[in-house]
Amino acid sequence: MNAGTSAAALEAVALTKSYASRAGTYPVLAGVTLALAPGEFVGVLGPSGGGKSTLLNILAGLEPPDGGQVRIHGRPPGARPPIAYMQQKDLLLPWRTLWDNVLLGPELESPHDRVRLEPKARELVRQFRLEGFADHYPAQLSGGMRQRTALIRTLLCERNILLLDEPFGALDALTRRRLHRHLLRVWREFGQTVLLVTHDVEEAIALSTRIVVLSARPGRIVDVFPLDVPHELRERTGETLRLKQRILEVLEGDDDA
Ligand SMILES: Nc1ncnc2c1ncn2[C@@H]1O[C@H](COP(=O)(O)OP(=O)(O)OP(=O)(O)O)[C@@H](O)[C@H]1O
Ligand SMILES: [Mg+2]
Repeated sequence: MNAGTSAAALEAVALTKSYASRAGTYPVLAGVTLALAPGEFVGVLGPSGGGKSTLLNILAGLEPPDGGQVRIHGRPPGARPPIAYMQQKDLLLPWRTLWDNVLLGPELESPHDRVRLEPKARELVRQFRLEGFADHYPAQLSGGMRQRTALIRTLLCERNILLLDEPFGALDALTRRRLHRHLLRVWREFGQTVLLVTHDVEEAIALSTRIVVLSARPGRIVDVFPLDVPHELRERTGETLRLKQRILEVLEGDDDA
């Protein structure tokens, strides 16, 4: 899908952003243009501090860009864009149990939505191996458990567009692989448009239909890699290994610059 077509579910058009510091302003995003077709799963890789979280904050409407636009289904975002955002910091409410945290989104919609989504919440809590912890408060959970709780909460928001900022960063390799499978299952079932930030090239390859590589700060897109191999075959093809190598070369090349 080309940037600028109204068929895109989510578009960043020439986004720029700078922050102020004592030494003056420093640019964080240097003109990021990206269009996600409906149902696309785009992985974003890039060096730490390159502006990935800033990009997601702008797309989610939490921060204004200095220049450029965000478009959702071809229009500027309204007051309640159809976006669920899992931020890099898990932002669970410390005074709510795991169960009340995962159901926060539906509860804010209506009491009816909370009741309607409880079975789905129960199923996700089971799939994500958190049963037995529903009554625990965030402070009583490990980092990985909090991350899984935050991901369930994001999935239960029932939005068409998911922004996920390193959702699996705190997990061990096995849990991570299991959750990859669960996320792919949810994505296949509901067909959301997903933008997932990760620092893990293998994770991006395992999940994405397209990978975008951002530069070091100020972030701009330095390369794009479509993935045509079906997800379930990716671990077994030499093509995947070659792709990993190419992406690492782009990341390392940018690092040397
Ligand atoms: N609210 C803010 N005020 C000032 N500077 C900020 C703010 N948010 C981010 N920055 C700066 O912007 C730059 C990009 O930060 P950002 O969090 O977007 O990077 P990132 O690519 O997500 O990094 P990481 O991979 O480590 O999560 C950094 O230099 C950071 O210090
Ligand atoms: Mg970040």
